[in-house]
Amino acid sequence: MGTEQYHEPANELTQEIRTFARIITSLQEEAEAIGWYEQRISLERDPQAKAIMENAQQEEFKHFAMALEYISRRHPKLQAVLKRVLFHKGDIVKLGEEGEKAEEQV
Ligand SMILES: [Fe+2]
Repeated sequence: MGTEQYHEPANELTQEIRTFARIITSLQEEAEAIGWYEQRISLERDPQAKAIMENAQQEEFKHFAMALEYISRRHPKLQAVLKRVLFHKGDIVKLGEEGEKAEEQV
């Protein structure tokens, strides 16, 4: 059983924190999978194989989104940043700075 997601002694962490750590690990794994599929899709020449990989990547998008939502519901400051940065047009760095200000108000 892997415990690499724990940075502190697992037996000293609450169940809630251990669950949070597992979801963070899932988020990392989903992000890696999205990146791996992106590379495979870009090189694949067989249309059917490419379609399978695209379908699989779409599943990883969903998994990533669910894990991110889980984490954001447990951290109001993170949720404040996400609300300010995600799904807005304009300069991403500027949105990030605005998100940081929103975070400070939570
Ligand atoms: Fe996944």
